Amino acid sequence: SDTRRKFIAGNWKMNCSRSEAIQLASAVVASSEEKESAQILICVPNIHLADIGKLAVNSHVLLGAQDAYWQDSGAFTGEISISMLADYQVKYLLVGHSERREMFANTDEIVAKKFAGALKHGIKPILCIGESLAQREQGVTFDVLKEQCQAVIDEVGIEAFADACIAYEPIWAIGTGRTATPEQAQEVHHSLRVWLAEKNAQIAKNLQILYGGSMNAANASELLAQPDIDGGLIGGASLKAEDFLKIYSVA
Ligand code: G3P
Repeated sequence: SDTRRKFIAGNWKMNCSRSEAIQLASAVVASSEEKESAQILICVPNIHLADIGKLAVNSHVLLGAQDAYWQDSGAFTGEISISMLADYQVKYLLVGHSERREMFANTDEIVAKKFAGALKHGIKPILCIGESLAQREQGVTFDVLKEQCQAVIDEVGIEAFADACIAYEPIWAIGTGRTATPEQAQEVHHSLRVWLAEKNAQIAKNLQILYGGSMNAANASELLAQPDIDGGLIGGASLKAEDFLKIYSVA
């Protein structure tokens, strides 16, 4: 996997009360150490950013958010902007998670604007892409993934991926316990990297491509051993410090 560091990222989704969030983040910070081979990130609900930002600020644990609106301010009732996140030690932002695409109408165009917005505020976007089960069965997996990436490339250019990551999350593997096999995931990651390399070889070589979808303490080492799998975006297993840290420890 060349010189790329592994990247272990937790996506807490809409979980944790305030006290649970503080407890979980404290455990992640206290029970892990900085290491050369891997980075560690937790993407927490926005309302917990202030508390957890204070916990993580002087530690090796990076703080991320799960979504934000792309405009900087204005009449967007209920939304928070990426510029607001920047005040809270937020270093990474998930954009285009399949749950945002499916349930909250995040189109490729909106995802691209969020990606650009994050970069504008010095936050690294993690572009989430993935096919549905029906799309996989129709044999259009790679077309779907290319389309999702291309929309962002059209907006910001391939060079912008120097400050970003991609997370490949097959929708059929999310929260289902049905992980992609290491070979299935490797095949997709490799094809993506080859496709990106046609646009910019250096960017493609350095880009961290994370796998997401039922990654856990038991299957992580096999997935992370694949040459083009540079980390994990972990949902369920990131809610237990012990499981999450086990994944970090094998990375
Ligand atoms: O973003 C992470 C995710 O969607 C995977 O969730 O619960 O299958 O690990 P999970």
